[in-house]
Amino acid sequence: MANDIAPYSGPSIPGSPSRRGHWTGRFGFILAAVGSAVGLGNIWKFPYITGVYGGGAFVLVYLGCVVLVGLPLMISELMIGRRAQLNPVGAFQKLHYQGSPWQMTGWLGVASGFVILSFYSVVGGWAIAYIFKSMVGFTGTAGEIQSQFGDLVGSTIASVGWHTIFMALTIGIVLGGIKNGIERWAKILMPALLFILIGLMVHGLFNTDGGSQAVAFLFNPDWSKLTADGILSALGHAFFTLSLGMGAMITYGSYMRRDAKIGRDAVTISILDTVIALLAGLAIFSLVFSYGLEAGAGPGLIFETLPVLFADAGRLISVPFFFLLTFAALSSSISLLEVVVSYFVDQRGWGRTKATWVQGFLMYLVGITCATWGSVFDTFDYFSTNFMLPVGGLLTCLFVAWVVKNSVRIEEFGSSGLLYKALIFVLRYVTPIAVLITLLHGLELLPFMSYEE
Ligand code: PHE
Repeated sequence: MANDIAPYSGPSIPGSPSRRGHWTGRFGFILAAVGSAVGLGNIWKFPYITGVYGGGAFVLVYLGCVVLVGLPLMISELMIGRRAQLNPVGAFQKLHYQGSPWQMTGWLGVASGFVILSFYSVVGGWAIAYIFKSMVGFTGTAGEIQSQFGDLVGSTIASVGWHTIFMALTIGIVLGGIKNGIERWAKILMPALLFILIGLMVHGLFNTDGGSQAVAFLFNPDWSKLTADGILSALGHAFFTLSLGMGAMITYGSYMRRDAKIGRDAVTISILDTVIALLAGLAIFSLVFSYGLEAGAGPGLIFETLPVLFADAGRLISVPFFFLLTFAALSSSISLLEVVVSYFVDQRGWGRTKATWVQGFLMYLVGITCATWGSVFDTFDYFSTNFMLPVGGLLTCLFVAWVVKNSVRIEEFGSSGLLYKALIFVLRYVTPIAVLITLLHGLELLPFMSYEE
């Protein structure tokens, strides 16, 4: 069998895997993977879509998606990556055969990295811009404060400028490699992020009058508010927030050591990602409700609604908040760039420095189109979250469930017990069907829904 390859048994083995960088240990890997997962998806998107879709019921559906779709897929991606010790394209080839059509999944992942990073970096740039804006302080009427965001987005020079700074930081970190770049920075950014977030949450819950309302909003399900759109967005968001469907976890898994336990680590990463999203929701909604504002403001929740509140709450809250957002964005953007870099390093034999500069620069150029035209930005965001990631995830899950040999899967998972059997059952029947339904809905092709305008 083509996929009957021997597992890589650690950096000491001669041959290419031994030259591959690896995480220094479990802690480093978990922090880097959580860094990839925790990003704009948690702090920017999760609160605003929860607001739009009405709170608790949406949160419960989202939690269900994390367990039934996110977690099995994260395990699958880590298994593929660690087994192959290669980038996503190379990994599918190595686990199947050289010209295998499954490598298309890897290609799709590399393409998704390009598409996502180009708009992601623009938002990351806004986050940096808002660190400075909050240092200066938000003053004026609510309308004036809100219009600052429109001015920033509307000014190509400003948007491209901040995007340049954000991309430069991303490239700078990835140039350092696995241990001295990604892992080292994850060890700095993630604890700082957690510290700020807990501070903001404590402030929101205990220092404002919106705390109990925020808890009720996030944890008391009002099923009447849940729509089919909400359910399907919850699934799409599970992909985005856990960095699944584009090979980021395949790539990070390829730097894992053999003694790491994939199932346990995937559970830890998923729980941390979810808890951080919930903490961000609590911090943000406490503030929003304490000023008697609505939760459903949409994408502008963080850059338009919050600054109005920050004018009152002060710099002690606003400056750390935008640092938090920037740190979260940066620890994710490095994983997006790393997917592309690892492809050029493994498959094309480029050096890391060349791959990082050249590909980082190309991504930067594509990002300029997002910073310049809102329509490009929206299309990239919509298309990647709703199509590229779900298709990538669907193919990955089918590959692991039906193509990879049982013995290989058991070796990577570390057991063949009940948990393993449950995993394979879910991967075979539950995850693909759930993802397929989401995709068909995205294409407005579900027979039992009406898509009339
Ligand atoms: N998970 C990141 C977030 O929530 C986004 C991301 C998606 C990063 C896909 C890498 C790959 O912001």
